[in-house]
Amino acid sequence: MRHHDRVRLEFSKQAVPFSQTASIRDSARLQRLVDAVAPARSASVLDIATGPGYVALAFAEVCREVVGVDLTPEMLELAESHRRSRQLSNASFQRGAAEKLPFPAKRFDIVVSRLAIHHCRVPARVIAEAVRVCAPGGTIAIEDLVVSEHPRRAAYQNRVEKLRDPSHTRALSATGLIRLLSNAGLEIQSINSGELQQDAEKWLATSATPEREARKVRALLLQDEKRDLSGLCPFHFDGRLQFRHNTLTVVAHKT
Ligand SMILES: C[S@@+](CC[C@H](N)C(=O)[O-])C[C@H]1O[C@@H](n2cnc3c(N)ncnc32)[C@H](O)[C@@H]1O
Repeated sequence: MRHHDRVRLEFSKQAVPFSQTASIRDSARLQRLVDAVAPARSASVLDIATGPGYVALAFAEVCREVVGVDLTPEMLELAESHRRSRQLSNASFQRGAAEKLPFPAKRFDIVVSRLAIHHCRVPARVIAEAVRVCAPGGTIAIEDLVVSEHPRRAAYQNRVEKLRDPSHTRALSATGLIRLLSNAGLEIQSINSGELQQDAEKWLATSATPEREARKVRALLLQDEKRDLSGLCPFHFDGRLQFRHNTLTVVAHKT
């Protein structure tokens, strides 16, 4: 199966539960991303891999125009219905691949993307496209999961993530994500880390992971709890298996 087909397959089934996840809808988290970018009112914004459109709509509240692109039609339908219910006429959503954005060069003042790079096979291609469609002097902001700086610990987490959702390619480490942007010629402006506590069973339910793979994920997390094998730091709380996701938000300038 081609990777984009796998992404569409996964996110067509995840669209509704993903869009209802508290940490995804969290308005304080969305506001932190908007604040980190500090957009001008006149800005034109692109949200790459917009999913249910929450990031795009947070920018639409304070910017002139926002466009969200995504591969998965079910996600775009949700984004459009969220737009309608919030009566934001300056946002629109369309199909498009992050690796080949359907826009001319220098079209946007700001390009953002949250929780998407780890679904892409060639992240450098996505960043090159973000740079292409961003106007000189513009801003590119990426928020994503990050894994350990230690290759073996990083590989352990990526194995868990990929078993849970086969459209996961590879989450980068914090330095890997920063390097991805600086290698694209961008000037790093700010870096903010975050942490999300996840309930393993809720997380597996959101992705509708088949039971065979879910069993392997639980076993890997339990091993990790005993032997500290990744950066996920699993633990039990009230009898439920929990772990920690680390995130990084990098804001950079196209000089
Ligand atoms: C984990 S969701 C994140 C959605 C949204 N950015 C958010 O943070 O709420 C990942 C989204 O990326 C989209 N996606 C993955 N790979 C993509 C690609 N190469 N081009 C466009 N969209 C992609 C999926 O369809 C899905 O909607």
